[in-house]
Amino acid sequence: MIMNETLKTLETRRSCRNFKPDMVEDEKIQAVMRAGTYAATGMGKQSPIIIAVMNKKIRDTFSNENAHFAGVNSDPFYGAPVILIVLADKSIPTYLYDGSLVMGNLMNSATSLGLGNIWIHRAKEEFESDFGKKILSDLDIAGDYEGIGHCAIGYPTSVSDIVADRKENYIYYVK
Ligand SMILES: Cc1cc2nc3c(=O)[nH]c(=O)nc-3n(C[C@H](O)[C@H](O)[C@H](O)COP(=O)(O)O)c2cc1C
Repeated sequence: MIMNETLKTLETRRSCRNFKPDMVEDEKIQAVMRAGTYAATGMGKQSPIIIAVMNKKIRDTFSNENAHFAGVNSDPFYGAPVILIVLADKSIPTYLYDGSLVMGNLMNSATSLGLGNIWIHRAKEEFESDFGKKILSDLDIAGDYEGIGHCAIGYPTSVSDIVADRKENYIYYVK
């Protein structure tokens, strides 16, 4: 079986649900964000944007909002100190695919740097609410953006290496 560092990263990435509170170094956050910006996008239109939330107070506000939409009382970000939020411009037909691919780059590049990471949902609901709209206007972000996902990152307390068997009939070949 062919294996290299990239393939190993892609195969060993696992969702982290237990983060240390320690802040991630700026250089690592920047490297992960940069990897996100190099995702392929339909017709090269670069429809997504990425917002890095590192401020504890604002991060906690996102946690409360997200918990509200999830209907839970716990922190949906599992204690992660950094939340990278991907949104994408709805006026571009491929925005959902573009944003999802950015999310993949964020998770895989974070894994490659030894950072725990996980996709946390409900960004769409967040940015349809007044809370999210205010965040965007405070950042002077204009346009019709939809929340695609949050990539929570930080140092893992533990990451399960339990991986579900890949389902049968995942892959087909036409030779
Ligand atoms: C679109 C999407 C949304 C997800 N939302 C959440 C979430 O809100 N909370 C959570 O704990 N995990 C979430 N996950 C993580 C999945 O549960 C996880 O990827 C899946 O169980 C497979 O585990 P693995 O990532 O370790 O391979 C999400 C994953 C994706 C792709």
